[in-house]
Amino acid sequence: MRNLITDQDLTKDEILALFESVKELKEKQKRGEPHRLLEGKTLAMIFEKTSLRTRTSFEIGMFQLGGHASFLNSQDLQLGRGETVADTARVLGRYYNAIMARVFDHGNLETLRECAGVPVINGLSDKFHPCQALTDIFTIWERGLDLREITIVFAGDADNNVTNSLMLICARLGIRFRVTCPVEYMPREEIISLAQIDKAADMFPVAIYTSDPKNAARNADVIYTDTWVSMGKEKENKKRIRLLSPYQVNKELVSCAKNDVLVMHCLPAHRGQEITDEVIDSTNSIVFDQAENRLHVQKAILTMLLR
Ligand code: CP
Repeated sequence: MRNLITDQDLTKDEILALFESVKELKEKQKRGEPHRLLEGKTLAMIFEKTSLRTRTSFEIGMFQLGGHASFLNSQDLQLGRGETVADTARVLGRYYNAIMARVFDHGNLETLRECAGVPVINGLSDKFHPCQALTDIFTIWERGLDLREITIVFAGDADNNVTNSLMLICARLGIRFRVTCPVEYMPREEIISLAQIDKAADMFPVAIYTSDPKNAARNADVIYTDTWVSMGKEKENKKRIRLLSPYQVNKELVSCAKNDVLVMHCLPAHRGQEITDEVIDSTNSIVFDQAENRLHVQKAILTMLLR
C-alpha cells in the first residue's frame, strides 16, 4: 500500500512516470474522452483548514475518474469532540478506499497512515504540501524545460510547507534551487538535511541568499513565491510584511531573471504583498496553469494509489 505524505514517498522514476500519467489524463480531459479509472472507488477528504484548490480539484478529480469524494470538515466530525485521530482513521479506512487530509499537525497524517489501512494523501500539513510541489514541477516539465538545466528561485517566507516540499522534490530530481529570504524566515535545518541526504540528488540543490534578492534572481528560469502570512501565522502579520517586503516578486526582481522567466505562485495570492498585479498578470506568469494542473496531478496521484 502506498501513501503520499511527503515528497520523498516517491522515487525520481516514479515522479517522472507520474508526470507522463498526468499528461495523458490532462489530454483525455481536454478531448472529452471518458477515463473512469476509479469506478466505484471512494475518497474521504478531511479538512482542518480552509481550501479552494485542494478541495475542489480532489472532489472533481474523483468524479471525473468515476469515483466519489466526501468532504469532511474536521469540526463536523467527532474529532472536534475528542474522538482520536487513530479511531477516526480506523473507521474511515473501513468505509473508504483512501483518505486525503489537510491538517495543522503533520503528526496527524502519520497517525492516519498508521491506522487507516488505506492510502493516505497529504493535502497540506504544517511541514509539507507534496501535491502542490508535484504540480509545480509538472507545470514546468510540461512546457518542455529540461529539469536538469533549470534554476528555480523561491523568494519570500522560506520556512513554510510549500518551500519545504519544493526543496525536497528539487533535490530528488536534481533541480537547482535557490532561496532568497530574510534570516528570520530561512528554511529549517531539518528540511535542508532531508534534501541534502537524498541519495537521488546529484548535487546539493539549495543555495540561500539572505540579503540580495536581485543577485538570487539573476538568470533564474523560474521565480516562485507564496503568501507571507500562511494559515496559522496570522498573529505575526505586521512583522512578516515588514521583514519580507524586500523579497517581493515585482517587475524589478523579475527583470534580473531570464527574459522568458516563468513566474509561479501556489495561490491564494495577496496581490500587492508577495507579488504585484503587474507580475502575476504578466505573460511570464503561469500561475493559473499551475492552479489548473492541481486537478490533473491529483487525478494521477489517485490513480497511482488506488488502481
Ligand atoms: N495552493 C493550495 O493548496 O490552495 P488551497 O489552499 O486553496 O487548497
